[in-house]
Formats: sequence, structure tokens, C-alpha cells
Amino acid sequence: MVDILPLCSYPSYLSLLPSIQTCNITNLPENYFLKYYMYHALSWPQLSFIAVVRPPPNSKNSDYPKVVGYVLAKMEEEPSDGVAHGHITSLSVMRTHRRLGIAERLMRMSERAMAESHRAHYVSLHVRVSNTAALRLYRDTLGFEVEKVEAKYYADGEDAYAMRMDLRDLWVKGDKEGGNPSGEGTPAKMKKKREESGDDDAQDEGDEVGSLGKKEDGKEGEKMVKVKIGRALGVGDLVERNEAVR
Ligand SMILES: CC(C)(COP(=O)(O)OP(=O)(O)OC[C@H]1O[C@@H](n2cnc3c(N)ncnc32)[C@H](O)[C@@H]1OP(=O)(O)O)[C@@H](O)C(=O)NCCC(=O)NCCS
Repeated sequence: MVDILPLCSYPSYLSLLPSIQTCNITNLPENYFLKYYMYHALSWPQLSFIAVVRPPPNSKNSDYPKVVGYVLAKMEEEPSDGVAHGHITSLSVMRTHRRLGIAERLMRMSERAMAESHRAHYVSLHVRVSNTAALRLYRDTLGFEVEKVEAKYYADGEDAYAMRMDLRDLWVKGDKEGGNPSGEGTPAKMKKKREESGDDDAQDEGDEVGSLGKKEDGKEGEKMVKVKIGRALGVGDLVERNEAVR
């Protein structure tokens, strides 16, 4: 039986990255250094999914769990159009497990995660113009549309279709612009409310914890410095660029 799981849900999922890399190398000419997989897994752990075959009961065979498919996905960090969107970096399924609907499930799960956890407006990808199987999957099964042809996109000179699919229908109810009849609780409404009450976006909403940052007996407390954390922290420098791309 094949399980399809978010990469982050597997116990010590980082140990599966070499198997994902093997699956990629076996099936595609566009390959990446291990740290590029690591970068995806650590930055957007909920967006990448794996298809794994678990060991049979009582098996001590170290070949398991076997990775038989994966989708490696990310959010575009600096979208050129300024619109939050996801991107499929790579997708493949081992020959032994094709035409079972695994790629379709991997893709649908990643798309949903992009919409639900990152409010991605759309998901984009590139595919070789000669890759009929993938093209049928993306266009006919999943509903992607060809945005444009990128000439000589791949290292061997082949053109790519740049494709995309709208994800706004998958946003969690109430997130969609105008999708919540009352508008109560939508990010736009909440922002407006904060602006009206004089709060700005940068304001920390949490209470002081412990003595940190408090003034002591009328003395001026130690000056606090704001630092970027979490998603605001750029990780672009860690990217091992796809060498297949011009
Ligand atoms: C493309 C690929 C990921 C499809 O994986 P898969 O798990 O076999 O695909 P699915 O079973 O989910 O197929 C879903 C649909 O895609 C289309 N499709 C998949 N493989 C196809 C093929 N060989 N020929 C024609 N259509 C195909 C069909 O419409 C299929 O629906 P159906 O089986 O009901 O007819 C797989 O062939 C693969 O790994 N290829 C090599 C790597 C690759 O090309 N990756 C994409 C790079 S952009």
C-alpha cells in the first residue's frame, strides 16, 4: 500500500531526503543538490509531499520506507508580479508505481496546502513541451493553463510551457476577498480595524512576559531592538539555483 503524506509528518523526515533525491535522479534530468531539498523541507515543510511504501509487518529490511514519488514545492519568495503564489519545483513517480493516481494526489495535496496555509493566489510550474504525460496530468486532469512558452528554458535547449492554476477557490472560508458575507474576521477587515484603532501592522500584539523590557522603578528599561523573524526572514541566499534553468 502507498501512503501519501506531507514530508513534515514523517518521523525524522529529513532522513528521507536522500531517497527523494534518488527518485528525482531516476526520473528527471533536472537534479538538485541535497541542500536544495533541505531548503524546501525546512522552509515550507507543509507544501512538499511524498508517496511511501511502508515496510511489511515485522520486516527488518532497511529498504523501507521506500519513497516511490514526491512533489517538491515552495512559495515564491519574491514574486515578480507581487502576488503570493506557490511553485512546483519538481514532481516524479517511480515507473513501478505510475498510473495509479499518485502524481494527481501529490499535486492536489500540495495545491491545497499552498492555498490554506499561505493563501497562495495561484501555483506555477514549468514543463518540457515534449513531456506529454506531465502535460496531460497538469492540463487535463488538474486544470492548469499554459501561460506562455519559454524558449530554451532547459539546459539542453528544449522549450518549456510556463503553466499556472488559480487556487483562490481553495482558500479557507472567510479568507477569500468578498467570500465571507459579513467580512468579519477577514485579513482586510482586521487590518482596517487595527488601522482605525491606531494600531499598526508592526505592533506586537502579545503582552509583556516576565520582566523583559519592563521599566524598573521608573528607570528607563533596556532599549529593545526589533528583528525580523519567521517568514519575514529571507532564506533566498540558501537557494542552490536550478542549474538546468538559464
Ligand atoms: C508525469 C508523472 C509524474 C505522472 O505520474 P503518475 O502517478 O503516473 O500520474 P497519475 O497516475 O496521477 O496520472 C493522472 C493523469 O495524468 C495523465 N497521465 C499520467 N501519465 C500519463 C502518460 N504516461 N500518458 C498520458 N497521460 C498520462 C492521465 O490523464 C492520468 O489520468 P488517467 O490515469 O486517469 O488517464 C510520471 O509519469 C513521472 O514521474 N514522469 C517522469 C517525471 C516527470 O516527467 N515529471 C514531471 C516534470 S514537470
